Amino acid sequence: MQVKEIYEVVAEDFARVNALILEQLHSDVPMVEKIGHYIIESGGKRMRPLLVLLCARALNKAGDDKALLAGVIEFLHTATLLHDDVVDTSDLRRGRPTANAKWGNAPSVLVGDFLYSRAFQMMVSLRDLKVMEILSNATCVIAEGEVLQLMNVKNPDTSEAKYMDVIKGKTAMLFEASSHSAAVLSQASAADEDALRRYGHHLGMAFQLIDDILDYQGSTAELGKNVGDDLAEGKPTLPLIYAMANASSDDAQLIRQAIRKGGVEHLEQICKIVQDCGALDYTLQKALAERDAAKACLQNLPDSPAKSALSALADIAVDRRS
Ligand code: IPE
Ligand code: IPE
Ligand code: MG
Ligand code: MG
Repeated sequence: MQVKEIYEVVAEDFARVNALILEQLHSDVPMVEKIGHYIIESGGKRMRPLLVLLCARALNKAGDDKALLAGVIEFLHTATLLHDDVVDTSDLRRGRPTANAKWGNAPSVLVGDFLYSRAFQMMVSLRDLKVMEILSNATCVIAEGEVLQLMNVKNPDTSEAKYMDVIKGKTAMLFEASSHSAAVLSQASAADEDALRRYGHHLGMAFQLIDDILDYQGSTAELGKNVGDDLAEGKPTLPLIYAMANASSDDAQLIRQAIRKGGVEHLEQICKIVQDCGALDYTLQKALAERDAAKACLQNLPDSPAKSALSALADIAVDRRS
């Protein structure tokens, strides 16, 4: 199944989500609308709303509230991006200058807060306490993941286990909350609810592992964000953690220094090291294992186009260039 075919499975619901997102961006404060529209209209893959809609479809969920849930999740995601680009001092996102590059940090943080808050207003209108519990817990965990990452920045002694904790919180949690809340909203059986929750977790882990590979071997044009941003911030992601333990001692030393200092001065050389010492391949193998774990979670769901699309989505999380 190609990406386009996956989206087609829930095309009608998606049109509703996109309309709703635009509707919900409304504010009487022009700057809120300006930045909100800017980041939302610059696109994005909309992977998390897709995940919500596919889970709901796989469980034969009727009604419009799944589109609202999908919108909530995309707002939460977009809020984290506005904040993340400030924290990471990134200046390119979705192929355009970031909101912080264009308007500065303060408006980006505040409009991020607006999107978070609007997401909660929308969530309340779902009138589902369990969904609220899942999503409010998830937002705390995501924030903790970003803070934990911040605590490890410029620390070359960050362990692989710590790195896994970071990506579980900052990224996998929202994928997990997407599939889990969609299952709850669809009144899934306890077994299906748990299976889809675990599917989302593994999908998110695979997704972030690949994101961290793409920061060293992707193309800025395809990614729509700058390659080398992780190194610039001194982020000890898995490719670097593996390389420090497995490359020659000179190369390992170079990476340690680069993490301590931050900056992209040695980017080209470090790209070559992570490639040659097998660090990118090691990270890819981890991503493939998460993909397989995600697919295994789908086993007992009834066969349907949505189930096939969920399986294909796991392939795409790994096999992607943007
Ligand atoms: C970016 O997520 C943040 C990460 C978790 C790596 P996406 O790659 O899904 O971002 P958009 O929404 O498509 O721009
Ligand atoms: C993504 O972290 C997690 C969140 C946005 C919460 P990254 O910092 O790796 O994401 P990109 O690379 O900026 O999209
Ligand atoms: Mg970032
Ligand atoms: Mg990244």
